[in-house]
Amino acid sequence: MAFPASFLDELSARNPIEDVVGQYVSLTRKSSNLFGLCPFHSEKTGSFSVAPEKGIYYCFGCHKGGGVVNFIMEIENLDYPDAVRFLAKRANMEVPEDESYRNRYKSQERLKNLCLEAARFFRSQLTTPEAQVARDYLNKRGLSIDTVKKFGLGYAPNAWSALKDAMSAKGFSWEEMIEVGLAVKHPTKNSVYDYFRNRLMFPIIDVRGNVIGFGGRVLDDSKPKYLNSPETVIFNKRRNLFALNEAKKSKEKFIILTEGYMDAIALHQYGFDCAVASLGTAFTEEHAQLLAKYTEKVILTYDGDEAGQSATRRAIPMLEKAGLTVKVLQMQGAKDPDEFLKTYGPDAFRSLLNKSENQAEYHLRSIQKKYDLTKDDQRVAFLKEAAKFIATLRNAVEREIYGHRAAEAAGVNPETIKIEVDKAYRRQEEIRRKKQETQDLSATQSRQPAYRGIRYDNVRSAMAEEGLLRMLYQEPSLFTQVHLTQEQFSSSLLGRAYLAFRTQQEEGREVSFSSLGEEFTKDEIAHLSSVLQKNRESVSEQALQDYIMVIHAEYQKRLPSGEAQLRALQERKKNAKGYGG
Ligand code: UTP
Ligand code: MN
Repeated sequence: MAFPASFLDELSARNPIEDVVGQYVSLTRKSSNLFGLCPFHSEKTGSFSVAPEKGIYYCFGCHKGGGVVNFIMEIENLDYPDAVRFLAKRANMEVPEDESYRNRYKSQERLKNLCLEAARFFRSQLTTPEAQVARDYLNKRGLSIDTVKKFGLGYAPNAWSALKDAMSAKGFSWEEMIEVGLAVKHPTKNSVYDYFRNRLMFPIIDVRGNVIGFGGRVLDDSKPKYLNSPETVIFNKRRNLFALNEAKKSKEKFIILTEGYMDAIALHQYGFDCAVASLGTAFTEEHAQLLAKYTEKVILTYDGDEAGQSATRRAIPMLEKAGLTVKVLQMQGAKDPDEFLKTYGPDAFRSLLNKSENQAEYHLRSIQKKYDLTKDDQRVAFLKEAAKFIATLRNAVEREIYGHRAAEAAGVNPETIKIEVDKAYRRQEEIRRKKQETQDLSATQSRQPAYRGIRYDNVRSAMAEEGLLRMLYQEPSLFTQVHLTQEQFSSSLLGRAYLAFRTQQEEGREVSFSSLGEEFTKDEIAHLSSVLQKNRESVSEQALQDYIMVIHAEYQKRLPSGEAQLRALQERKKNAKGYGG
């Protein structure tokens, strides 16, 4: 284990989960648990629970859960060791760093430092005589001095080793420069050279303020227009958004999502300080979850071209899944927000924001665009597709409104489309009902975990294993009565949890979720917390023995037959002096 167990025990003792979570979520007590609004998905009713005695948080809505360290990992976007350090700092504890962690931590700190120094270097280069071309370009793009400062923009000189020499002088190695993507190894010669040359530099800064990468734009029409840092140990493109470090401070009730660095920057300059941009890669579920931590509403302003519109269609369900309200801004007369602002000014943009469409409007209009409504056959086809889409809306008023709109567009009587919509709606309801039924059925019958990649091979045994774990977690003294081995668990996850808790108990430590190490994945932790948070069952000798019996019986069935008999014999002997029943 990387951090000593005693340290982790003290860490969780000195960071009570209700206090730590209470700094982010306002909690109210309901019997032995605390409830509040989930910080990981947007909601109106409090599905988020904290069980102080068990040291567990669990959300009944989005099924996130874990101990105090997992909570900090999730909410502060930290990896395991950094979350431990975060909590240690909170409780004024010194972290006993293990060698490999210390080295990894130190080397990552150095890489972040290297990126920070590089950003300073690029910024300083912006004032040199050679940088006239870059200053001219900034002028041409209409970026103010304040904007350049706010985003720390810089210039990568037109040279092969300007950055490399400056960073070497600061004590960084070539390997480190290569590792963060600032330098590239020459394919044949034993030398390295600067990756970014003669480019306008945009530092990419994470939500905690670390420079983790760069985007670099050419100053003319050459290609590629933008170069970006590659993925590195400190730069994960799926989890970071450009300018979110600034946008998170905004007072606006929404975040504007754009396609380009320049769009986000122009928006900030014109007073829309809640703009962010994706990093030259596709929008991801992680991005959606990241945004959901800072806002409830996202306005999409991707480019109007086909690529932008298809990116919009992809992003909408991801944002909705993260609990966000999504609106789509429709822009005419400009390719992107940057151009729009320069041509029409901020007031026109503000009015576009106010007029931005919800996803139903947006969707209906994209359907409409596919058809030529002056032709009869196309009108029929349009109405059919529109009715099918409108029927997917769950709210009757919405169906009415958009039905009217579609009818108007096609120039037909609203009654006509209403009949179509109602028919399609009933059909879909029937499908939904059936699907729900089979889902309910399979959920109760199979009781499979709701987490990706976690499946029970033997549900009967797994239910007993869950019950047993729950009981032991509540009443660790019962471990003395249980002689099961890890292999006897049908679920390898539950078996590993059993062993981890058992080890805690045997080492005389507190049996606690919070001081488990890094050996469980996020989904595994969430699933375990869903198992353990369930209602306190009355701890009874009989129930305990029943669970053990089921686990045993199922285990016997799994053994190859000859061996099974032998084992059964041994077990029977053990039973005689062991846990009885
Ligand atoms: P665009 O081509 O729409 O550029 O790319 P833009 O934002 O309008 O840039 P300007 O206004 O010409 O300066 C949008 C985004 O796609 C990524 C960048 O993140 C860019 O901001 N991109 C684009 C690349 O990564 N590489 C490229 O070569 C082009
Ligand atoms: Mn642009």
